[in-house]
Amino acid sequence: MAILVFDRVGKSFGQTEAVSEVSLEVNKGEILALLGPSGCGKTTSLRMMAGLERCTSGEIVYRGDVIDSVRQNKFLPTEKRDMGMVFQSYAIWPNMSVFENIAFPLRVRGAGEADIESKVRHVADLVGLAGLEQRRSTELSGGQQQRVAVARCLVFDPEIILLDEPFSNLDAKLREHMRLEMKLLQKRIGATIVMVTHDQTEALSLADRIAVMNRGAIEQIGTPQELYLRPATPFVRDFLGQTVRFEAVVNALGEDGTVAVTVESSAGYRSSHHRLESPVAGQPCAVVVRPGDVRIERDCGQASDAGGGVMLRGRIETLLFMGEYYDALILLSSGRQFMGTLSKRMPWQVQQEVAVFLPADALIWPA
Ligand SMILES: Nc1ncnc2c1ncn2[C@@H]1O[C@H](COP(=O)(O)OP(=O)(O)O)[C@@H](O)[C@H]1O
Ligand SMILES: [Mg+2]
Repeated sequence: MAILVFDRVGKSFGQTEAVSEVSLEVNKGEILALLGPSGCGKTTSLRMMAGLERCTSGEIVYRGDVIDSVRQNKFLPTEKRDMGMVFQSYAIWPNMSVFENIAFPLRVRGAGEADIESKVRHVADLVGLAGLEQRRSTELSGGQQQRVAVARCLVFDPEIILLDEPFSNLDAKLREHMRLEMKLLQKRIGATIVMVTHDQTEALSLADRIAVMNRGAIEQIGTPQELYLRPATPFVRDFLGQTVRFEAVVNALGEDGTVAVTVESSAGYRSSHHRLESPVAGQPCAVVVRPGDVRIERDCGQASDAGGGVMLRGRIETLLFMGEYYDALILLSSGRQFMGTLSKRMPWQVQQEVAVFLPADALIWPA
């Protein structure tokens, strides 16, 4: 069920079009991530959800009612939206205690003292701040300050929680930890969260759905798996993770819309996931694979089963031991090179012959 709907929402600041024609739905109980590079319009979108900016075109619908529309001359102010927001800077008050910081939204709403006491204790406990209620916020670590900001948002049980780059001020280790904490907390309380991030790992690991944004527009919305495995555009593909690219040529067209391609002048294979529009035999294209999907084995000279995919032959040029795996520069028999990942379990050697397997469902793109 959609709680919040963006219907072709746009936002211009003078000549700058920060957000253009964004349509999306936020469903109850989900974590939706807005993911994209700096300046692509994520924060502006979040601020429009919160009512901190007005949209300049389109409509925002919340719980079935239009809450922002120039055309209908409607606008529901922030304080009437029942949304909690955690800013990148946390915006917690340095001279107030943890307790008073968390209690603030309840005091604003005129809650009674006993109610405040029990709710603050409850959320402090939820986010792991129990026992620290009397500390000043300045006496807290970065992770603890982040928890205060989250607790202050949870305490009034908002319909939607909006998070803007919530972990960006934390170091890498703490960020991973807080990510896990946030996921566990969200499952426990069933909150609806919209989070903004430029970190693809954060979006992939935390979100139920991701909207990838580029230059103010949404390129693709879907589950992390859909986006990672079946990206709709090169931008989404490259933004979500690394890829290894192989040169190919279309050599046959199937009736079912599939194409058979010849990869790096090796035997061709069919793909049912091609993205070639009106492909033509002989047309150059690219087979693009996530590094983890390229399987590299010792080449024993026998034609191994490529499982419907394709096998290429190559040779290890350089070997870098990374601890958990090896990175290797592989020279293919076609003369092209690529960086591959090798299992740490094998005694690899430079100049060793290898077989490189590409999966049958690898993505094929126009060259
Ligand atoms: N208040 C503002 N006035 C003018 N331009 C703005 C304002 N806020 C954002 N922008 C511009 O809108 C674009 C999107 O910004 P923003 O939503 O902050 O991106 P993100 O959060 O994805 O980094 C940028 O080009 C930014 O410079
Ligand atoms: Mg931003």
